[in-house]
Amino acid sequence: MAHYDLIISNGTVATADQVRQCDIAVKDGLIAALGTDLGSADRTIDATGKIVVPGGIDSHVHISQPSGDGIVMADDFESGTLSAVCGGTTTILPFALQQKGQSLRDVVKAYHALADGKCHADVSFHLIVSDPTPQVLGQDLPALVADGYTSFKVFMTYEGLKLNDREILETMDVARETGALVMVHCENEDAIRFLIDRHVARGDVEPRHHASTRPAIAEREATHRAISLAEIIETPVVIVHVSNRQAMDEIARARSRGRPVVGETCPQYLVLTADDLDKTNWEGAKFVCSPPPRDTDSQIACWEGIEGGVFDLFSSDHCPFRYDDEAGKLNARGRTDFRWIPNGIPGVETRLPILFSEGVSKGRISLERFVALGSTNHAKTYGLYPQKGQIAEGSDADLVIWDPELERPISQERLHHGADYTPYEGLMIKGWPVEVILRGTQVVAGGEPTGAAPGGRHLARGKSALVTEQERRA
Ligand code: URP
Ligand code: ZN
Ligand code: ZN
Ligand code: ZN
Repeated sequence: MAHYDLIISNGTVATADQVRQCDIAVKDGLIAALGTDLGSADRTIDATGKIVVPGGIDSHVHISQPSGDGIVMADDFESGTLSAVCGGTTTILPFALQQKGQSLRDVVKAYHALADGKCHADVSFHLIVSDPTPQVLGQDLPALVADGYTSFKVFMTYEGLKLNDREILETMDVARETGALVMVHCENEDAIRFLIDRHVARGDVEPRHHASTRPAIAEREATHRAISLAEIIETPVVIVHVSNRQAMDEIARARSRGRPVVGETCPQYLVLTADDLDKTNWEGAKFVCSPPPRDTDSQIACWEGIEGGVFDLFSSDHCPFRYDDEAGKLNARGRTDFRWIPNGIPGVETRLPILFSEGVSKGRISLERFVALGSTNHAKTYGLYPQKGQIAEGSDADLVIWDPELERPISQERLHHGADYTPYEGLMIKGWPVEVILRGTQVVAGGEPTGAAPGGRHLARGKSALVTEQERRA
């Protein structure tokens, strides 16, 4: 009879393609067997009445990025990844952000110095390209892709980060040549700058004007343009953090023409609206992110995209700031004008509970779809499948046991991130992750960290399934 390190017994095991009753045996950090009467183990976890899923993958996370103005992100890699695992996410894909003038290879080294040995989840970096010099395009990116950094993010907005269309085309061209995948932040910077100037001239500077200066049209136009640029290069593209129906329609139209376009949305577009930015005493600053949360019709649209397939990815866009100190989100300048409030909200720990509760518990999506949106599709899109995102023999034993009946509201007190608030305070959640296992090691028990030493590893990634498919067709 076989002997294992761990057996999870009697659970309802859900993957992106099936739900079944079976036991899972783990040996040396990998899934070793699935079935019944598997043998003995050093430890058994009884998952009766619970749901066992592959560890969540959050492919859109910002940690330890510089924000200018002396403002410091609220999470380092230790707290950010602890927060991730407590929310059922065992792999995160944060960004290594190139600032103008920086060597991309030095940037990657610097992020490794911040992350290595400190992570409670597995980690793999996307590269933010803000300065596509001949050195970056000709040498750094090809070398980094060969080393397993197989995705780049480019911005169509933000001073200092924004690329023009020519630069986006050149970066996409390198992606195509090297087999990497490009993610695009789609908002029209010139339109936003124009609207900001008009607002400021009128004295409209409160947090809610962050939303009115970044309208859905500016997102729609940029989404259309990003998809068009990718079509010129004939390369797949991921449209990140989509907030509204107009941008979704651009993605749906491109897909109906056979274009390999992936859509991502986030919890803030399902459960927040621009009204949240209107809270008094600058409390609205706690909800400032880009694109901004919009209205209830946009929430309905995003649910349609989640149910109907426009969205393959559900990510947090975790971008945490504190609110209560000078190094935080509302430093002295931030309290005078929305332009100085850093963009971003925390959410790496609440992402999957919100999707489970609002999606599965409320009957909007199946368990299979929950797994696809929260884990498997991220692994396939970013070159980690089937090592991650799957429960099968040989896959990493990243396993999360959910209690579908556990009901309690989201509260800052119980979260593990470095931010001093959650924009989802009070949202009632039915279904929480209770046991979390990273490559065979239990990192969360009974919903709380086990105190295990940081065992997260850096993951070199292969090609995106989209890129492989595009190359096969070419
Ligand atoms: O407001 C946001 N989303 N901040 C994070 C940076 C980005 O654009 O993803
Ligand atoms: Zn972005
Ligand atoms: Zn982001
Ligand atoms: Zn705790």
